Amino acid sequence: MLIFSTSDKGGTGRSVTSCNLAYRLCVSGRNVAYVDFDFGSPTAGALFEISEVERGTPRGDGMHSYLLGETGVAARVDVRADSDRHALRRLGPRAGKLVLLPGDEGGAEFLTADDAVVTRCAALLLALEQEFKVVIVDLSAGRSVALELALKATALPQLRSFTARWLIFHRWTRQHILAASGLVHGPHGLVQAGKECGHDPAELLESVRFVRTAVPSTTLHSSVERPAQAAWLLEQNAALRRLASVNQLGASTLLGETPVEPMLQWREQVILDMDVSAKIANEETAAAYTDLARKLLDNATWERF
Ligand SMILES: Nc1ncnc2c1ncn2[C@@H]1O[C@H](COP(=O)(O)OP(=O)(O)OP(=O)(O)O)[C@@H](O)[C@H]1O
Ligand SMILES: [Mg+2]
Repeated sequence: MLIFSTSDKGGTGRSVTSCNLAYRLCVSGRNVAYVDFDFGSPTAGALFEISEVERGTPRGDGMHSYLLGETGVAARVDVRADSDRHALRRLGPRAGKLVLLPGDEGGAEFLTADDAVVTRCAALLLALEQEFKVVIVDLSAGRSVALELALKATALPQLRSFTARWLIFHRWTRQHILAASGLVHGPHGLVQAGKECGHDPAELLESVRFVRTAVPSTTLHSSVERPAQAAWLLEQNAALRRLASVNQLGASTLLGETPVEPMLQWREQVILDMDVSAKIANEETAAAYTDLARKLLDNATWERF
């Protein structure tokens, strides 16, 4: 299964959430490949705490170089063997594989997704899809060439029969809701661009779900301490729900949400179960990632309405 992670805005939590999803899927026994298509700013190496590829691979064999045909073999890093985090190296026999295909250090955005690049992209995705249960591709933000590349590759006959799912990450604010909606439904958005690449727009839309990240609690203080604040927060939350629903981001299009996590406000990383048992990370955050990982693979979540 191919999972594409994107967002309209930057800094939505797309990479952190996608890496945490990859980790949760791996812990539950799935073989997972994580592909860094954020060509201009590859961060997955840092998130998985692999110092050699912290800002992408320095050896000229990252995703950018591979897609340009500058290297025939794309770099692969075994997260479970090479992470600096001991606990990631001791996941136990029931966990699956977790392999990172890093970006290039100092890589840059593509100017165009030409046929040669699309063909290489499709070949890579096809090979990964056959080797791994789940392939997560971080596509970077906005109407990027990475997004166009993924749409073009998945429209090709060799990939068309495989399941592809699209996750759109956004924060729980007015601007983020409107931006996420625009990325999917707006001019040059995912649906329109997908149609131009040969996708069936209705089918493509059915494979899109939104993920609300770092959703703040509506109970900052107790309603007894600060009744006006408590009422205002509830009102805003209700208004955002209405806005989301009007902009086609309602409950039926939602994969799930993550709560604000203090650990992630301080440091981008994978939240391990040991962080929860040490009471450094919140249990709700780990539970949210587990739930997202489960729904990602659960066909019932993706059934037609
Ligand atoms: N649930 C959360 N609670 C608090 N902070 C979070 C949460 N999820 C992510 N963050 C933080 O938000 C910031 C942005 O996250 P991240 O880098 O994953 O976003 P992104 O969409 O990939 O950004 P970019 O477009 O720059 O690649 C990071 O500092 C991250 O740790
Ligand atoms: Mg990112």
